[in-house]
Amino acid sequence: MKTIDELLADGVSGKRVFVRADLNVPLADGTITDDGRIRAVLPTVKALADAGAKVIVASHLGRPKGAPDPAFSLLPAAERLGELLGAPVAFAQDTVGPAAHEAVDGLQPGQVAVIENLRFNPGETSKDDAERGEFADRLAALADVYVGDGFGAVHRRHASVYDLPARLPHYAGYLIATEVGVLKKLTEDVKRPYVVALGGAKVSDKLAVIDQLLGKADRLLIGGGMAYTFLRAKGYEVGISLLQEDQIPAVTEYMERAEKLGVELLLPVDVLVSRQFPDLKTKAPSQYDTVDADKIPADQEGLDIGPKTRELYASKLADAETVFWNGPMGVFEHPDFAEGTKAVAQALVDSNGFTVVGGGDSAAAVRTLGFDENAFGHISTGGGASLEYLEGKTLPGLAALED
Ligand code: 3PG
Repeated sequence: MKTIDELLADGVSGKRVFVRADLNVPLADGTITDDGRIRAVLPTVKALADAGAKVIVASHLGRPKGAPDPAFSLLPAAERLGELLGAPVAFAQDTVGPAAHEAVDGLQPGQVAVIENLRFNPGETSKDDAERGEFADRLAALADVYVGDGFGAVHRRHASVYDLPARLPHYAGYLIATEVGVLKKLTEDVKRPYVVALGGAKVSDKLAVIDQLLGKADRLLIGGGMAYTFLRAKGYEVGISLLQEDQIPAVTEYMERAEKLGVELLLPVDVLVSRQFPDLKTKAPSQYDTVDADKIPADQEGLDIGPKTRELYASKLADAETVFWNGPMGVFEHPDFAEGTKAVAQALVDSNGFTVVGGGDSAAAVRTLGFDENAFGHISTGGGASLEYLEGKTLPGLAALED
């Protein structure tokens, strides 16, 4: 994989460089609530601009349906990029149309333009190679060189991630190089004890990674909505908690395999339960109780791990030499149900080991709950991407940068 340093050494002054970033940031009423992914691509954009490149930054945002949709415009992200760079950033209101060409043609060396959400074009995410290829051809016409730096999207076989690099000289940006370096540390020669905390809503999203980790990690701590499928598999009643009945056979097999392999697989021993899902908008206080994990009332749902579990998980993280954490332990967006996620984040902060926060919701949680980012070994920008890397899959966006 050639890196951006090689590109810079060869000289990029006056060249049009297409940077595939992941500016897929959370928005609330048009306002960015966590700009971590924009800050993460700054070193690459800055280095290219400082070297006199004409920088074209492109990304997806959300999941629009292959047509322009103002709710998914990249404009707020482009504006934030300009603020962080301290320089004006041009914005094109299309992806490969006249506006994009005009914006790129108008760039002086050292200037930056952002083109509109790549997913406004159906070719970006198409399953059809020819349709994706056609869009990639049109993107390639905008640039002389490609820099892949959208780590959060490297698991997607999309036109700008997979097909475009084949059409231009291509290099890995600083963010991708850093992310891959960190994930390698979790897969090769990992320092033990290696403890993994997994949360989030759906167990189905985590099956493949659990399968892999059973052969690698020493302890697996399970929380979040996915924990209730495990608790149900143990024979407990889980009331109206999130449950994926069809996954019960898989998680039963994992629990059996963990026991055989001597991997500690820990489930919540107590949970916070409520009759009603909390109001995330008003954050109005909710009515809830703390119950043991085998005493969830039939008409209530589990919304966070309880105090005994917080203590248990913190103690299981205390002596870890390596930690990977992906997925919140509860509905952290509401203050009543944020304590479990906070406790895990705090245990990582207190750890003397190498700690990695997998992207997506857990990275956003760390920042919105007010933790100092520098207190963690690494906060990944890729949720699905980092999980798929740990699953041992070939990631299209990394493979495309290899040759
Ligand atoms: C993410 O948020 O994980 C990445 O930006 C990829 O987004 P996607 O899951 O919509 O492809």
